Amino acid sequence: MNILILGSGGREHALAWKVSQSYHCDKLFIAPGNAGTATLGSNVAISVVDFAAQKQFCLDNHINIVIVGPEEPLVKGIYDFYKADDALINIIVVGPSANAAQLEGSKSFAKTFMLKHGIPTAAYAEFTIGNLQEGKEYISRHTLPIVLKADGLAAGKGVVISQTHEEALQVFEDMIVGKQFGEASSKVVIEEFLDGIEISVFALTNGKDYQIIGHAKDYKRIGEGDKGLNTGGMGCVSPVPFADNAFMNTIEETIIKPTINGLKEDGLEYYGFVFFGLIKCKDAVKVIEYNCRLGDPETEVILPRLETDLVALFAAMDNGTLEDVNINFSDNSFATVVAVSGGYPGEYKKHLPVSLPDISFKEDSIIFHAGTIQHEDNTVLTNGGRVLAVTSEGKTIKDAVESSLAILEDTSFDEMYYRRDIGYEFE
Ligand code: AMP
Ligand code: GLY
Repeated sequence: MNILILGSGGREHALAWKVSQSYHCDKLFIAPGNAGTATLGSNVAISVVDFAAQKQFCLDNHINIVIVGPEEPLVKGIYDFYKADDALINIIVVGPSANAAQLEGSKSFAKTFMLKHGIPTAAYAEFTIGNLQEGKEYISRHTLPIVLKADGLAAGKGVVISQTHEEALQVFEDMIVGKQFGEASSKVVIEEFLDGIEISVFALTNGKDYQIIGHAKDYKRIGEGDKGLNTGGMGCVSPVPFADNAFMNTIEETIIKPTINGLKEDGLEYYGFVFFGLIKCKDAVKVIEYNCRLGDPETEVILPRLETDLVALFAAMDNGTLEDVNINFSDNSFATVVAVSGGYPGEYKKHLPVSLPDISFKEDSIIFHAGTIQHEDNTVLTNGGRVLAVTSEGKTIKDAVESSLAILEDTSFDEMYYRRDIGYEFE
């Protein structure tokens, strides 16, 4: 089969790495890709949201599967575009319909869905310019901290956790009246703060059946000890020691099955990954958010740990045999450590030369590229905040992290930064 992966991050390099190992993969293309994906397939200069250009490319290259990495094309209706076109209808699109992608694209939609289907989540209320005053009163009465969320996609910046009522009221005004995130913050969800440990769980579904394909813990803060600003993710570990069989059974019964049944009941067409952003509180595990795609950097640990052929899984998703597939995981632990450009998640420089060690002799580590591009003279340049994700496997999380750190010691670009404490609580 000929496969097109859409996206350009570490997630897409990990997808390309996994897909290229499949017996079922003939030609592999990545649009737009990065310097890492270029070593596994052909990068194509097409935007993830340019559906018309993708159509031409898919027809010219006899593409059988399109794997959608990021959320934007999903929310913009990539699935519906392919399924509405007779020339594209037979292509397997890994990603849900725009209707179903609202689970990620609208916090309000996701909350209504969870409430309707009895899926545990934080208590909430939602407000627009129409009931602004009511919202302010709601905030003033709310216990601290208060969680405010822009309804729509806001490039990962739409969630604010306020420790004071004054700050919360200001953020609320900025979002709704000041249109801080444009249309995305014209509605704001205000939520109870949940105290607990976060974990990301991933399933592949066709809206009827599903398979859990992995889970991971993401380290989101820029600084060691989980201090400082929120980022896209500075590292991940998998498996997570507290996610034992009993834990996974509980979330399957209380969260995953009710979600898949909810998709069915509400007629939401869903082929693709479901990312359950969960928090383990004292009394229960609750959903913080749904994403309709794989996580980054979660993918960089869950795919190396997954032994099952991913392309075979996509085919099973498409033909309704997902439940018959055996999912196998490695017995080892996996960790990824992300190297970022100085200044990230704020302003940072681009196009800095990257010096990479030769690790071709190392079986236990992989350097996934995130924000990189290949320069004409074949050197690698930085091209984003998160530049590399170095994944390793080991007998323990600590062993895996140490292997990745050793590789990062031999890697350099100007003002490179990474956390040395990924997985610190599991030593
Ligand atoms: P989201 O964009 O929904 O993933 O939220 C970003 C981050 O904010 C989450 O990963 C959590 O760390 C945090 N967060 C969101 N909602 C809550 C909540 N209700 N209680 C505590 N933390 C939250
Ligand atoms: N690492 C979190 C995400 O991909 O949204």
